[in-house]
Amino acid sequence: RIFNNLKEGSVFIAHEIAGIIRQKQAEGKNCVLGLATGSSPKTVYAELVRLHREEGLSFKNVITFNLDEYYPITNDALQSYNRYMKEQLFNHVDINPANCHIPNGEWPKENIKKHCAEYDAMIEAAGGIDAQILGIGNNGHIGFNEPGSSRFSRTRLITLENSTRIANSFEFANISQVPRLAVTMGIDTIMKAKKIYLMAWGPMKAPVIQKAVEDEVTEQIPASLLQQHNDAVFVVDEMAAADL
Ligand code: GLP
Repeated sequence: RIFNNLKEGSVFIAHEIAGIIRQKQAEGKNCVLGLATGSSPKTVYAELVRLHREEGLSFKNVITFNLDEYYPITNDALQSYNRYMKEQLFNHVDINPANCHIPNGEWPKENIKKHCAEYDAMIEAAGGIDAQILGIGNNGHIGFNEPGSSRFSRTRLITLENSTRIANSFEFANISQVPRLAVTMGIDTIMKAKKIYLMAWGPMKAPVIQKAVEDEVTEQIPASLLQQHNDAVFVVDEMAAADL
């Protein structure tokens, strides 16, 4: 779906998500959302907050699982995705904090595999993800699944590419402060989501959107694996669609 600008694309995604939340409410069921961070989804969250404040959208039946978190990082660090989610969404809606799950940058390293396995188990116990939103890295990463991530990967510790650390360094005092590791939900978990919305805005994302949508399916461009999902939508603005 190509929109004139990121505002229109973001409103489209927020209204789709709101529709799924309301439908689940009508059925008396929980709605499980997979959430992303980065600059791309901020306007989606702003619209969801507006829908809550002005149109009575309730998040009482919503359970969330975030894609990723830097590792290690303290939860209250300025750059932590735990903090980001509170500031962008959770603090502004009626969601139960106990229903909000984010990989924890404070997990002790010796138990990290156990925590990652528990994260996957919690997603399964919640019934899987109803709707997953995704951004995309310039190298094609989704979550922090860097190029070469297996189609069958699960939640795990991953080493960030230098290009990713450089792209994200504006959030930190300098490049040496950017963590070298992250915890990310795996591609297999993302692919199991019933519905996926990947968003990309602006000219910087045009080359990777072209590769992910039109080129071969390859683990070297993790977002291209979404071509094999039966209900994944790429939501882009005119500038990100420029190379299609
Ligand atoms: C970050 C996040 C990804 C995000 C991507 C793009 O590294 N881990 O989940 O999709 O980079 O970020 P942005 O939306 O700021 O371009």
